[in-house]
Amino acid sequence: MSITLRSPLDMHLHLRDAQMLTIVAPLSASSFSGAIIMPNLIPPVSSKEDVLAYKKRIMDSIGDSSFTPYMTLFFKPTYTRDFLESVQDEITAIKLYPAGITTNSEGGVSGFEIDDLRETLDAMSDLGIPLCIHGETGGFVMDREAEFVPIYEKLATNFPKLKIIMEHITTSASVDALDKFDNLYATITLHHLIITLDDVAGGMLQPHLFCKPIAKRPEDREALLRVALSAHPRVMFGSDSAPHPKESKEAPGCAAGVFTAPIALQRLAQLFEENNTSFDNLQKFVSDNAQEIYGITPIEKTVTLSKKEFTVPDNYDGVVPMSAGEKISYTIDSIS
Ligand code: DOR
Ligand code: ZN
Repeated sequence: MSITLRSPLDMHLHLRDAQMLTIVAPLSASSFSGAIIMPNLIPPVSSKEDVLAYKKRIMDSIGDSSFTPYMTLFFKPTYTRDFLESVQDEITAIKLYPAGITTNSEGGVSGFEIDDLRETLDAMSDLGIPLCIHGETGGFVMDREAEFVPIYEKLATNFPKLKIIMEHITTSASVDALDKFDNLYATITLHHLIITLDDVAGGMLQPHLFCKPIAKRPEDREALLRVALSAHPRVMFGSDSAPHPKESKEAPGCAAGVFTAPIALQRLAQLFEENNTSFDNLQKFVSDNAQEIYGITPIEKTVTLSKKEFTVPDNYDGVVPMSAGEKISYTIDSIS
């Protein structure tokens, strides 16, 4: 059994900077055509110069691979229309973090009063710049995403022409919101399609599965699987692959993030097969839907996977992937 994926896209990816960038960027650039690159560096990517310089560092780190880093800015409510017009050709989206909600998000948004956001969001809406949101409140950890849904709905209602992407959704509440508003979209990670909170903390604590938003209940995972496997047209694959050094994960005060980029396509193929789902839907989930939603035409790249066991490495230069040491039933055979 084999499957050929055309121009796979990762619509939510952390590539980091400096040495980590040189370790992880080539891994994504080899098997994906492109990815939406998260801006939560220290300091965050928040000017045209930052975007151009970071893009260059990414391109320098991937050698000859053909790969498009779709760049993002770190949302600030102070962005003016003039500023956005000047930067729009260099970015594909803007990422909004509530302040302090996750890694390097301290400079994020501290309130969601529409009037405080109107100028920037009206301009983004007019210019056709999508808004990607990390949708969590500061509430109880299991409820943070569901509590954020009314904010998604308020934004979707007030800015009906703005494309709002609910990033890395983990709950049935977000899946339900998707079907209430035509301008709401979502990315779903690999790990949230596979694990629940039980896998993270139900037995011995698994730091390499700890992330924000935390994995939720079985019924939430079922809801995510339903829309991913059926390739819901407003749902895309976004790995949220978020590498941290092994020492930062296997530590008190474990950093949040699951590193999945190098195993994502293989494990997705296994997941779709296990669920008796057509690989046509996998093609839509990992590329076609994103092309339609973002209006992008990715570099042509074909990735052929075959049903052959692949043992996930223990680490990639000191960065531990999800499922390290375990076997996945699909291997990447060739990339062209
Ligand atoms: O687990 C996470 N890690 N969630 C995020 O939102 C950010 C990411 C990171 O940058 O490490
Ligand atoms: Zn992320």
